[in-house]
Amino acid sequence: MLSADSVKVAVRVRPFNQMEKDARSHCIISMFLNSITICDPRNRNNVKSFTFDLAYWSHSAFIKNDEGILIPDGPTSRYADQRRVFDDLGQEVLKNAWKGYNATLLAYGQTGSGKSYSMIGYGPDRGIIPLTCHELFKAIQQNQELDKQYQIYFSMLEIYNEKVIDLLSKSKQPGGLKVRESPQRGFYVEDLTSVPCESYQQVEQLLKEGNKKRITASTNINMSSSRSHMIITVRFKQVFLKDNLTKQSDINLVDLAGSERQRASGSEGDRLREGSAINLSLTTLGNVISALAEIAMGKKVPHVPYRNSTLTKLLQSALGGNSKTVMIATVSPADICYEETLSTLRYAERTKNIQNKAVINENPTEQLIQELKAENFKLRSTITKIRNSGQRVEEETKELRRALAENELEMAEIQTSWEQCLERAQKEWEQQYQTLTQERQMTQTFPYLSNVNVDPQLSAFIKLFIRDGETVIGQSSNFSHAIVIKGLGIADKHVTITNRDNKVTLEPHGQAKVTINGVTVLSKVQLRHLDRVILGSNSTYLYVGLPQERNAEDLSKYDYDFFQSELAAVEGFDRDALGKRQGRLAEKVNPSVLAVFLDYIRVKPMVAEANQISKELNKDLKFELEVKNLALTDSRGHDLVKEVMVKVTNILTQQVWIWSRAKFVNRKFIMEDIYQRFVDGEKISVDRETDPFWDPIEAVHLGTAYVWLQSLNYCITLEEHVEFHNSQGEEEAILQMNLVPCSPTGQPLGEDGILIDPTELLGQRLDFQVQIIQCLGIKWLKQNIKRGIQIRYHVLSHPHPFHTKPVWNNVNARVDQVMQFTVKSVSQELLSYLQNHALVLDLWGLQEDCVGISSSFGDAELTDEGSIIIDYVKPPAPSRVLQETGDNQLSELYVKLSKLEQEIELLRDVNRTLRRDNVTLKDTLKRMMNDGTNPDGKSFHHSNIQASGSKGTHKASYEVEFAKALKRFYQSMNQVRSQLQGLRRHRAPDEASVDLLQLYLDKQTWAIKNVGDSFEMSMNTLKNDVSLIVKKKKEQSLWSSVTK
Ligand SMILES: Nc1ncnc2c1ncn2[C@@H]1O[C@H](COP(=O)(O)OP(=O)(O)OP(=O)(O)O)[C@@H](O)[C@H]1O
Ligand SMILES: [Mg+2]
Repeated sequence: MLSADSVKVAVRVRPFNQMEKDARSHCIISMFLNSITICDPRNRNNVKSFTFDLAYWSHSAFIKNDEGILIPDGPTSRYADQRRVFDDLGQEVLKNAWKGYNATLLAYGQTGSGKSYSMIGYGPDRGIIPLTCHELFKAIQQNQELDKQYQIYFSMLEIYNEKVIDLLSKSKQPGGLKVRESPQRGFYVEDLTSVPCESYQQVEQLLKEGNKKRITASTNINMSSSRSHMIITVRFKQVFLKDNLTKQSDINLVDLAGSERQRASGSEGDRLREGSAINLSLTTLGNVISALAEIAMGKKVPHVPYRNSTLTKLLQSALGGNSKTVMIATVSPADICYEETLSTLRYAERTKNIQNKAVINENPTEQLIQELKAENFKLRSTITKIRNSGQRVEEETKELRRALAENELEMAEIQTSWEQCLERAQKEWEQQYQTLTQERQMTQTFPYLSNVNVDPQLSAFIKLFIRDGETVIGQSSNFSHAIVIKGLGIADKHVTITNRDNKVTLEPHGQAKVTINGVTVLSKVQLRHLDRVILGSNSTYLYVGLPQERNAEDLSKYDYDFFQSELAAVEGFDRDALGKRQGRLAEKVNPSVLAVFLDYIRVKPMVAEANQISKELNKDLKFELEVKNLALTDSRGHDLVKEVMVKVTNILTQQVWIWSRAKFVNRKFIMEDIYQRFVDGEKISVDRETDPFWDPIEAVHLGTAYVWLQSLNYCITLEEHVEFHNSQGEEEAILQMNLVPCSPTGQPLGEDGILIDPTELLGQRLDFQVQIIQCLGIKWLKQNIKRGIQIRYHVLSHPHPFHTKPVWNNVNARVDQVMQFTVKSVSQELLSYLQNHALVLDLWGLQEDCVGISSSFGDAELTDEGSIIIDYVKPPAPSRVLQETGDNQLSELYVKLSKLEQEIELLRDVNRTLRRDNVTLKDTLKRMMNDGTNPDGKSFHHSNIQASGSKGTHKASYEVEFAKALKRFYQSMNQVRSQLQGLRRHRAPDEASVDLLQLYLDKQTWAIKNVGDSFEMSMNTLKNDVSLIVKKKKEQSLWSSVTK
């Protein structure tokens, strides 16, 4: 049983969002009463169950009613709507508030999981905060008593990058507000605006104001948003005038930043991981919850790290303190969110163990004043003492004086009558109300640009009204009819919008960047209702046209993802294109491909912002978004796991770095922080160690090449020219290398050593050399001759890679490196590995001042001849390979390839039979020679020996011929494999032009036909060769029996 003060935990599952619907996602969550079960989409048997205090199914079985509110679709529906969630959680908060307990409601979950929907709500679907405030005012109305006064103060703050921003203050606070600590109040925010309210409408308006400030407080309208935590505090005071008693409850409503950020931090090996404070609050919250959960389970925990972050300081009493606390954990039901959802459920499970000790906050008003007075007396005497001691007074007493002033202010506040407070607030409220009514009227009259934020909760708060005539939009206010907007890449005079004769046009100025519906605009264009407008790097607006153009459309469809997907599609990167690259046009998009696509469109605007910040801070860095392994497959043609990465180039020195997504996001946070300080006029000096724009020079991965190992099974020397391909599938260089089976002393085996049956190798020692001759036409060096290259490769299952020496300053780099490897005893596993796998060689680019790549294989065991011993162990199934569905043309070719391999196996059987015949013949011959007789008992003549001898020669020549045929076959098969790889890289054009598509289709069909033909040809040549050998052998046998 939970004790009354355990933190109560509720979980809510939201409906699929558009993206998940498009991807035809599966729901991996099921719910029975308060139990939730989650199923791993990659392994349906991996099922985990959790039980919470409350569980809400808001995923299905709902309809929209006439007021636009989502409600259950029938009496049997289990859909939990906003009202139901409020009835449980909000009512509980209210009940506790009336009793005088502090109450806290926290919303936790990944970005887009429904935290803000549950807490604040969208449109008519009001969430817990508005409903709670509404009900509170209603209850106050119904409980009016003569000698009792109710006071409500509303405050709203945001924690971003550890800074506290007052969302209800009109003034700017660079650096944010200070968090202080006092013995009476614990941690609190100094000078936080606290607005006295007497109606629900006022709270509604304050919420809007606060949200608007959330957008405009940052330098760029899309920069902070869902990376910040928001805390709304409703202070509810019941003053019992007759008894001079005050009962007070602080209701904290906390909408946390997306939980995935907590996992993102620390998972990445960025040297500046600690430099970014962006995730500190969320990580510390996790640590505090873990520590408190351990304490609750009776474990000894030395200390709870409340003080390590701003958020945990402010939530100290909510967690493990004086508060009745509830957490609502929100989750997505989709298979692609499995990891995050599971991690949220685990987090929620830990939280439910936390114990609080809530007390009723009931104090005689007089007592409060007495306590403050006593504290002030103490403070004054300390100041006097310091002064008398002759010490340096200023610094020591500054803090004490400040505390003194704070206390005095609080005393004054207590003593100011509620009426006076209200009167002060009323004036501001009236002004606000006027603005509000004005804005409503303008939306009915003028066309306008309405902001679209990465967080849908913050969309449509800013409206840029386009009055009749010309309006200039930009950073400067020096123009008549100007609308001033801030934002990255926004010029002083960015665009002029003209509203004339029922026609609205937009004209960019100079170099100003403008895109409309994903397309860059360079000259005057007419705006149409619902056009998507992006100004500068990433200031996104939806154009709402003239009143006569409007219908009752659902504007929420045009969300941030819509803008970014459209932009990416115009640049040739969309979900379908990705699917196409995987050859799965008609099918459901693979969840991992969808995840890459989502990552791509989320990171893309951040890259645009980073480029602008770099430009404005004169950092000379260019950032480009790329997808790792976009067009690469492994040696067997399976897709490799794709992930988003950022290529960073110093435009002056041409140095290049490749950053992972996590590293880039982390760096971007630090860049934003520096940029914000720069805009605030701060003088910024960042040393190298903490500079997000600096990194030591490193080697860059340029491309990969595959060399098939099959020839080793037959001890055939392979002389290859293979292409190194980069992530985009383009050629980076050509590698000339040999794979040479050899003797222990390194002598090539030559044609005499060719085996027809690889099983002959079983239990034998195998020696081979990897000879890397040269690398030709290296693009990396064509771009800058001061660079170098190195090649790295893995041999069989050896844990450490091997690498060549660095070669500098040559487009055609001569490497000339020979490494010999030895397998002491060939196993069946090794044979099948060689049959099916390739040697994977990676080309690394070196740049000036960078140390080459190194790998330690110094402890590798050597043979007496100095060759490296490789003990082959079966490697685990490759994890970087995606599942192949295999019902497209290319997969068919792969199926054909393996069929051919089976046919070869059959041919090998034929050969085995031939060999067995030979052995029998050899034995008979031996016997005859020993007896001096032939099998019929007749005497054995010299001529017969001659004949038998020539039979033996024939046997050897069959084998050699067969070996030669096999060698020819494997060489042609290598070509076929390369053709296949090329086919997989061949992309469909991104434009939807029928002609281009037709051309692509023709080319593709031709290429596929070519591969098929090559297959058939190789196979037929082999079959012909073999049948010739068999025929020859039969003739020979016939001849010998005739001559007997
Ligand atoms: N229970 C629900 N019913 C219907 N729609 C929902 C529900 N929960 C969330 N949504 C929708 O999902 C989208 C994302 O929700 P929301 O803004 O609440 O996410 P969030 O968790 O606050 O994300 P962030 O961390 O980015 O702030 C919104 O469009 C919202 O309308
Ligand atoms: Mg939110």
